[in-house]
Amino acid sequence: MQIYLDTANLDEIREAASWGILSGVTTNPTLIAREKGADFKTTIAEIANLVDGPISAETLSLDADGMIQEGIEYAAWHPNVIIKIPSTLEGLRAVSELARHNIRTNVTLCFNAAQALLAARAGAFIISPFIGRVDDSGVEGMQLIREIVSIYRQDSEISTKVLSASIRHPRHIIDSAIAGADIATCPFNVLKLAMRHPLTDRGIEQFLADWNSRN
Ligand code: E4P
Repeated sequence: MQIYLDTANLDEIREAASWGILSGVTTNPTLIAREKGADFKTTIAEIANLVDGPISAETLSLDADGMIQEGIEYAAWHPNVIIKIPSTLEGLRAVSELARHNIRTNVTLCFNAAQALLAARAGAFIISPFIGRVDDSGVEGMQLIREIVSIYRQDSEISTKVLSASIRHPRHIIDSAIAGADIATCPFNVLKLAMRHPLTDRGIEQFLADWNSRN
């Protein structure tokens, strides 16, 4: 399973890229707005300079024509830009039309497996089930990943990648990989947490203490 970073913060992207683990980046309007004063196009271009992999940029239109127009514009910014389109009927129209232009899409805000099946049929490159937000609603988010992976695997015509989104903690990363997700997009703090373990710290301390007390 590949790891993407879910942020528009360039410092976080630069640092995570230096760990050698990043295969791509996802952004959304909330994450872009959090970077006060940053221009959308410039931010995406800067991310593309830091990470050599798919960079998701989200459309804001509610109608298919607007999504298609935005998608064509964003895709011209860099060959690695993937167009994020919401899981709606207008979104399906936009996904299939953008696919005809050879523009790759990431169908976002997916909350049930039927949306994922239709998005794949429309030609989505990536489907993004939001597991943390499903958990928040009182339903197990990981079950959604399992259902989508199972449905996609049974259909040899589907090559859409399953991207676990809305990840809240390291256990979500582990369970996404076990469930067969192709990608997990993680907030920076969750990646840092994933590499932290008290027994690792204690082991390092012990090794150093033993080394320093040798005769
Ligand atoms: C994915 O592409 C989204 O940007 C993201 O994972 C949403 O996560 P949230 O539920 O923490 O906002």
